[in-house]
Amino acid sequence: MDIFRIEGPVRLSGAVNISGSKNASLPIMAAAILAAGKSVIKAVPQLSDISVFSQLLGQLGCELTRSTPLSAVADSKGGDLCIDSKVVDNPVGEYEIVRRMRASICILGPLLARCGRAEVSMPGGCAIGDRPIDIHLRGLRELGAKIHLKNGYIVAEAPHGLTGCDIFMGGPFGSTVLGTANVLMASTLARGKTIIESAACEPEIVDLANCLTRMGAKINGIGSPQLIVEGVKQLQPVEYQVIPDRIEAGTFMVAAAITAGQLRLVNCRLNDMMAVVDRLRNIGVTVETAKGGCVVAREGPVKPADITTQPFPGFPTDLQAQFMALLSLAEGNSIVIEKVFPDRFMHIAELNRMAANLRKEGPVVIVAGVNRLVAAPVMASDLRASAALVLAGLVAEGTTVVNRIYHIDRGYEKIEKKLNMVGAKISRESDESMTAEFISQISERVEK
Ligand code: EPU
Repeated sequence: MDIFRIEGPVRLSGAVNISGSKNASLPIMAAAILAAGKSVIKAVPQLSDISVFSQLLGQLGCELTRSTPLSAVADSKGGDLCIDSKVVDNPVGEYEIVRRMRASICILGPLLARCGRAEVSMPGGCAIGDRPIDIHLRGLRELGAKIHLKNGYIVAEAPHGLTGCDIFMGGPFGSTVLGTANVLMASTLARGKTIIESAACEPEIVDLANCLTRMGAKINGIGSPQLIVEGVKQLQPVEYQVIPDRIEAGTFMVAAAITAGQLRLVNCRLNDMMAVVDRLRNIGVTVETAKGGCVVAREGPVKPADITTQPFPGFPTDLQAQFMALLSLAEGNSIVIEKVFPDRFMHIAELNRMAANLRKEGPVVIVAGVNRLVAAPVMASDLRASAALVLAGLVAEGTTVVNRIYHIDRGYEKIEKKLNMVGAKISRESDESMTAEFISQISERVEK
């Protein structure tokens, strides 16, 4: 377990390459199960979530090789990941892997379609709130799978194949991203036509559907809430490049904004980020298109703004924590409403330790703007919360120490290297020094 030591305040300036999307890569890697043979997925970022998912596919019987060494430079766009799925003879998603990464659930649909059977450990709780999978299971049942729970494992069976039908995928918080991925993948090999209503429209689902189409699937309505799938007998392995990571891009946009700096983001698609760009402009940040990406800068004050997270094309929940760090420094009060994961607020207490003024009332947070943030030792609780703490650390006066940064390594490729290349002062250190530092700080506080 490493820590980040961040010296602030800094002003960022320069160019940053955005990596391939983690949340597009994971379901697309799962899609490789559907077609026996070698698929090559390009621009897959080098992240611990990708390594865990690779291990999972390996346990199923797939062979995986990466063409870029793990030491690839900070501005690489990931590398090629070759997945040979000729053999998938162990359709089991083990607890040991699923408990480390909930996204493992997206092997369920493709395994069922390919093997007629799948056993996947039921995902448990999560730092960002309850994350049921009832809609995934409902959709697969409607395709004809028999599903029961045994010793904490979901056992899904369809020995005679799946059959297309009309499926409604909406839930109490709108559509489900990985639920749509699971049912979409399963339906590509089902007999007849499947209509998925209230499908997720996230760019990562569009990317998955485009990849499946390249594999020979017949999908209409891509990008809309109604997906129409004509089942085919088989799919072919594919060579496919994943889209840039819109959440990483959004995080660097906030990095430019919070430090009153200027960043050029290379390999960034603004069309996937209209709600984010709209909020940034409202806050007083300029965002302009540039070749292959955009330039983001702030000169004036941070203006308060209201943000409500929603499924795409609304403002993404995965950028809520980062924007909260930015709005902490606004000249006035902002309101943030979380409508996707109403409990995703673990960062509030930590940001308040850095002198932010955040007050939570259910899924609503009142952000009272402060003049400055102050460095403190803080604890990362989940991926996006850790990103918010790093962003706050860039402008906080003094040395911020972010503990448990393994969370950030799950989803940001070499974030400290990318930030340091544009003016940040972040060092990665081992936990022993953190422990020593914590002990000395705690004993200092006790003595006082
Ligand atoms: N939901 C249900 N029942 C279900 C499935 C979901 O009630 O069967 C609820 C969830 O509890 C939540 C809402 O529906 O309130 C949306 O959840 P969704 O299923 O869309 O989330 P997910 O597919 O599990 C993906 C991303 C998350 C991202 C969410 C929302 C991946 C690997 N994960 O999760 O990304 O926050 O969509 O956009 O794609 C992250 O990258 O940090 C991250 C958490």
